Amino acid sequence: MNKNDMLVEITAFAKKRGFVYPSSEIYSGFSAVYDYGPYGVELANNIKKFWWRWFVQLRDDIVGLDSAIFMNPKIWEASGHVTGFSDPLVECKRCHTRTRIDKILNEIGIKADEKIDIKEINHLVAENKSKLLCPECGASDFTEAKKFNLLVQSNLGNFTNKWVDQPVYLRGETCQGIYVDYKPIIDTMRVKIPFGVAQIGKAFRNEITARKFIFRTREFEQMEMQYFVSPEDEMKEYDKLRSNRWEFFKSIGLKESNLKWHKHENLVFYAKEAYDIEYYFPWSFDELEGIHARGNYDLTQHSKYSGVEINYTNPKNGVRYIPHVIESSVGVGRLFFALLCDAYTSEETENGTRIVLKLNKLLSPIKVAVFPLLRNQPELVNKAKSINQMLKPYYMTEFDDNGNVGKRYRRQDEIGTPYCITVDFDTLSDNTITIRDRDTMQQERVSTDKIIDYLRGKLPFI
Ligand code: GAP
Repeated sequence: MNKNDMLVEITAFAKKRGFVYPSSEIYSGFSAVYDYGPYGVELANNIKKFWWRWFVQLRDDIVGLDSAIFMNPKIWEASGHVTGFSDPLVECKRCHTRTRIDKILNEIGIKADEKIDIKEINHLVAENKSKLLCPECGASDFTEAKKFNLLVQSNLGNFTNKWVDQPVYLRGETCQGIYVDYKPIIDTMRVKIPFGVAQIGKAFRNEITARKFIFRTREFEQMEMQYFVSPEDEMKEYDKLRSNRWEFFKSIGLKESNLKWHKHENLVFYAKEAYDIEYYFPWSFDELEGIHARGNYDLTQHSKYSGVEINYTNPKNGVRYIPHVIESSVGVGRLFFALLCDAYTSEETENGTRIVLKLNKLLSPIKVAVFPLLRNQPELVNKAKSINQMLKPYYMTEFDDNGNVGKRYRRQDEIGTPYCITVDFDTLSDNTITIRDRDTMQQERVSTDKIIDYLRGKLPFI
């Protein structure tokens, strides 16, 4: 299958199987916004649980946080977002489609990103005019590039007094909530540098180009971890974080051959180093996660704009300093998309082609499906229903008696269900069932009172 067909196929599959729906579809949709359907929300929740376990549960040096989406608008001035959070935008003079010109430059092999200076972008556009094509109509005639701010504004009203007419912003990234809560965390928790704060939450951006399914959306969730370090340890800790993140993506189930490092050439002035981990998406390798060494810019800015001292005193020698920050940041939807692409498999079996979602079993939306061999045999149906009820407190399960067993296996394979239990006539005499493994399609006979132990061995957490 060619890469473009793959994008179309995954998008259609995700909708057909209840993973991702275009938002507001009965109203003709709403550009670059998506809803996660019944299986999608399970998968997304499992991705978040996996990430949270990795960073917060398994470590003593990282704490969690859930800061508000609305924050004092000054925060976005301090962070530089009000003036500097922008993408280079051009408009096609023929069809008036607006596009990110840095992306079109990348497509013809010229390195550019949102951090590049606007004069430099316009210079590159002029030099390569005939090669730069509008993705909508193919013309090569664009307006001059302008910076387009990505912050989404809102107007939070105070109805008891009068309207507060200063705009507020829906947060453009979750990490600002972590920076502004650095002080209460230091004051209330027993944390010592180096330590991290992890947060999962919604972020909003007025994205210009949004054509790649859930890769780039205007409302999305981020999983960000900000690690506070001493200035002298910043790069040592950064290297450790980079290795840790590579291990994370392998451990969550992405094939290593579909991952690669990308080093940023254009750094913002305060950054020490910036890398992305890229995934081989249906169009090419593209950003999955950003891992950045940010110096002490963030805390310095918030200290300056709030007037509150933000620093750290080394308990061993009393030396006071503003901590430096290294961060990792990945979108839940972007990782979800990478996992779908990686797991989506079409394979030949004795009974024809099957589509199977070979997800890490811990992430699967439904862990166990329970079937009666025949739907018109009340004894089998009742027994299957009682086994389903027995498993529910432990796992997400599904009872299915539609169609024949072969069709039910196919349905569960497509949504990545790792185990299918079938109740047959032997069950009624010897109290055993068959458990079928999604990947090997092998079946084992297990006593009903051993099912939970059996599954615990295979699916120990989530
Ligand atoms: N705090 C750093 C930060 O936000 P970023 O490179 O702008 O850095 C980090 O974003 C990650 O968030 C990206 O690597 C991507 O996984 C995700 N992300 C960013 N914009 C997104 C969007 N519009 N839709 C979906 N995911 C997005």
